[in-house]
Amino acid sequence: MEGTFFCIQYSAAKQFFVCHSAQIAIVMAHTNLPEKTKLENEKEPIPEEDAKPENAERREFMIKAGSVCLGGAVAIPPIAAGIAVLMDPLRRKQGDADFTRVTLLDALTEDGTPKKFTIYADKQDAWNKFPNTAIGAIYLCRKSDGKIDAFNVVCPHLGCAVVFRESERDYYCPCHNSAFDLETGTQAPDSPSARGLDSLEVKVENEGEVWVKFQNFQPGIADKKAIV
Ligand code: FES
Repeated sequence: MEGTFFCIQYSAAKQFFVCHSAQIAIVMAHTNLPEKTKLENEKEPIPEEDAKPENAERREFMIKAGSVCLGGAVAIPPIAAGIAVLMDPLRRKQGDADFTRVTLLDALTEDGTPKKFTIYADKQDAWNKFPNTAIGAIYLCRKSDGKIDAFNVVCPHLGCAVVFRESERDYYCPCHNSAFDLETGTQAPDSPSARGLDSLEVKVENEGEVWVKFQNFQPGIADKKAIV
């Protein structure tokens, strides 16, 4: 009986020792973990205020909003630059017509006989430039007093081209029989044109160069209205 009691005591003491040895080993192993491993295994406690669902949602929203703002800030400058380049030709103001060098003074006779000239200029639409392109035609008429008249050949009635009639000494439009005075360009009384030929500004520069400010005008109306 006494031997049996001793065996039970011995067995319990052994189990206690084994159990405590395992605990000590675990504690020691845990204590000896490298610093990095400890940090990885340890999670920062989330503050109670941040752990609330509404605060988490707000934080997520702020992060998304910040991302959108940052993305927009990066994307806007190149987009704006592209739009500016595309729209630039449309924003350019079309100024007054420039003078074009047409001929030399010596090419015009002083007897008042008109001479026709084609006008060439650099033409430009919104995005393209066409150098030295025929943009119209004029009649130049040099008088005995040295004055030079210039008329656009476009008939103010509906836009046909007038011709110089040697026999009648006038300008004539064959489309609807409008006739115009050779000196002034005024339409004949029985002409359907609502106004006379469109005169153009002329100047002589550089010792005998004839320059004309070429313009087209709106046909079919009584007023002389430049087409821009
Ligand atoms: S277009 Fe010249 S008269 Fe009609």
